[in-house]
Amino acid sequence: MHDLKKIKDEFLTKLKGKVNLSEINQIKSDLFGKNGLISSQFKKIGIIEVSKRKKFASDLNFLKDELQSLINLKIKELENIEINEKLEKEKIDITLPERPFVRGRIHPVSQTIDEISSIFSEIGFSVEEGPDVENEYNNFTALNTPDNHPARDMHDTFYLDEKKQKLLRTHTSPVQIRTMLKDKPPFKIIAPGRTYRSDSDQTHSPMFHQVEGLHIDTNINMGHLKGCLSYFIKEFFEVKKIKMRFRPSHFPFTEPSAEVDIGYEIKDGKIIIGEGDKWLEILGCGMVHPNVLRNVKVDPAKYQGYAFGIGIDRLAMLKYGINDLRAFFDCDYRWLNHFGFDPLDVPSNYRGLSR
Ligand code: DAH
Repeated sequence: MHDLKKIKDEFLTKLKGKVNLSEINQIKSDLFGKNGLISSQFKKIGIIEVSKRKKFASDLNFLKDELQSLINLKIKELENIEINEKLEKEKIDITLPERPFVRGRIHPVSQTIDEISSIFSEIGFSVEEGPDVENEYNNFTALNTPDNHPARDMHDTFYLDEKKQKLLRTHTSPVQIRTMLKDKPPFKIIAPGRTYRSDSDQTHSPMFHQVEGLHIDTNINMGHLKGCLSYFIKEFFEVKKIKMRFRPSHFPFTEPSAEVDIGYEIKDGKIIIGEGDKWLEILGCGMVHPNVLRNVKVDPAKYQGYAFGIGIDRLAMLKYGINDLRAFFDCDYRWLNHFGFDPLDVPSNYRGLSR
């Protein structure tokens, strides 16, 4: 009979010591497993003296319940401790400022587009968009570039159908047409976006970016164009003084047309904008051709204005000292980490464009 008391005492001593979950499970199976201590006591009931049998059976059942509930309690307690330890380890302090965790960077082209939009919006331009897949009419014909016009060949167009009706836009100029067709003058818009030409080397990529500008009103002349562009270039390069040169050129959709060069020099391997005697071409522009206005039902006797098209990637390369255009589109995370911008620093004229 001493067995039951011994079993209980031994069990309690074990429980008082430091036990972990797997140990308590072991104790449980030592007691209640097929050949466990308690189980084997049950086998004794049949062979025990009849006079003692009843008490023994009842003591044994009592002990079994008692031990079982103690074990279950202990298991619960140990499981709780384990869960709490896990939670403690995985805890994130959501009150910490999020900046140290910011990993993404803004691509220099996106940054440049944001800067350009901010600069032009300061002087009343709104931002328009057009689709990358354009029709032939908006991309060429409406822009006074009819079939067989030599300018079409120069564009190395990606056509999307055999009839050459659909294409990847070769410039952002079709957004001029879309804007003027959907609204009434005056117009004062810029249209940044992707453009495509079948051309690829260190300074040309088959997909590149342009920003179009269009300003149409009743009294607009080339002086406005010049003022607008010189303001833009100064703001963009964050300099007080620039050198700018208008060279006569030809675009079917403007008359007269010009290309604009800015003066620069190289000091200690760095490009300095606004000084020196070297010239760099950065954009095309001109006064919108009367035929273009007629094509969009704007009366050229009453309205006139200027337009310009700037290569965005070129501007980004110049401003941020990036000398291979192809790196822009390599998706190299290390490159982006180096040349990219903080997502929380949205460029604006009054806070600074590119801090
Ligand atoms: N679309 C021309 C190009 O891609 C650039 C251009 C020149 C746009 C003169 C204009 C402009 O709006 O007036 O080569």
